Amino acid sequence: MSVPFLDVDAIIADPETTIVICCGSGGVGKTTTSAALAVRAAEAGRRVVVLTIDPARRLAQSLGLGELDNTPRPVEGVDTTRGGSLDAMMLDMKRTFDDVVEAHSTPDKAAAILANPFYQALSTSFSGTQEYMAMEKLGQLHEEALTGVEGHPRWDLIVVDTTPARSALYFLDAPDHLSSLLDGRFLRLLLAPTRGPLRLMSVGFNLVSSAMNKVLGSQVITDVQTFVRACEAIFGGFRARAGVTFELLSSRHTTFLVVATAQKDALREASYFVDRLTEEGMPLSGVVVNRVHSSPLTVSAERALSLAEDLAASASLEGEALRRHANLKRVIETETVLLDRFASVRPDVAQARIQSLPTDVTDLVSLRRVGSLLAGEA
Ligand SMILES: Nc1ncnc2c1ncn2[C@@H]1O[C@H](COP(=O)(O)OP(=O)(O)O)[C@@H](O)[C@H]1O
Ligand SMILES: [Mg+2]
Repeated sequence: MSVPFLDVDAIIADPETTIVICCGSGGVGKTTTSAALAVRAAEAGRRVVVLTIDPARRLAQSLGLGELDNTPRPVEGVDTTRGGSLDAMMLDMKRTFDDVVEAHSTPDKAAAILANPFYQALSTSFSGTQEYMAMEKLGQLHEEALTGVEGHPRWDLIVVDTTPARSALYFLDAPDHLSSLLDGRFLRLLLAPTRGPLRLMSVGFNLVSSAMNKVLGSQVITDVQTFVRACEAIFGGFRARAGVTFELLSSRHTTFLVVATAQKDALREASYFVDRLTEEGMPLSGVVVNRVHSSPLTVSAERALSLAEDLAASASLEGEALRRHANLKRVIETETVLLDRFASVRPDVAQARIQSLPTDVTDLVSLRRVGSLLAGEA
């Protein structure tokens, strides 16, 4: 089954493309793909910043992300002879949230908000906050990229890794989640003082038992009120910027890559992402199928197993190698069936594949290797 080729080098080479977002379910290789693409783009001459989320520790170290300080830092060892550069950063969700609060209120009010237990719960554990803050950070990086230093844009390409959230809904809906939390009905209910404390409590606890359960837990409801009053002034700001970011995401300068592996669940999630992005009118370039297996040998699994049986009595090493080959062939067969099925259901969605490497991808050398596989080089 042949599908259009997802040409990442063409994406990188297009100066009109300024944001690439890698999304997909957990563990499929979003962080690896983002980093590999960022390195490749930088070495092709783009001025790149990559926003990573929860990178594995050794990969973070290779990118110079020893500490979580929420600031892009230059990556050592990148070939800059074509005029490109690479900065990397790791998202600090709480720090980003704190910065937003500080930027949009007076120092006194900001201090009150930051010290509030409700705020602390919200900024560290509300499901959706991380996704929202990633978008917030993307907005900031985008502005910074345009403003630049001494008249030169600091970056011309932002590569964005996304959270390991199970559901695509969170990623796309994060701005809605947060703004519906911070304004609208919820706040009006909490802020209605004329109805008396008991009434307020019961409204509060109804909400606790539903959507807010995770955040509030046993928090005293007055914390919420203090929080709400103190940060009223910045609610508008939150919503307005969520809108701006949404526009940024759907602009022709942005493109989405959906990352998956050749496994049932990952491909099902990928289909879901593809459909959601399409429905939302988000610019999708295609699907990256990561960790696919291949073999240069044509010997079938059955043949390898029967040879292994013949050898069983004598050479155990060869037998072992043959059995491993048979396993690999079976894996390849299964992957092929799944990928063919995916391609037949979504024949228009471009695909690129990355072979599974024998070891984890933790340094620049292997990131380059992943980038070159991604680009379809032999
Ligand atoms: N093509 C590949 N070959 C070998 N290992 C890979 C490959 N892609 C990713 N990995 C490894 O798989 C693990 C998960 O990848 P990661 O990029 O962190 O996934 P995600 O960000 O989607 O959760 C990491 O240990 C990474 O090094
Ligand atoms: Mg990741």
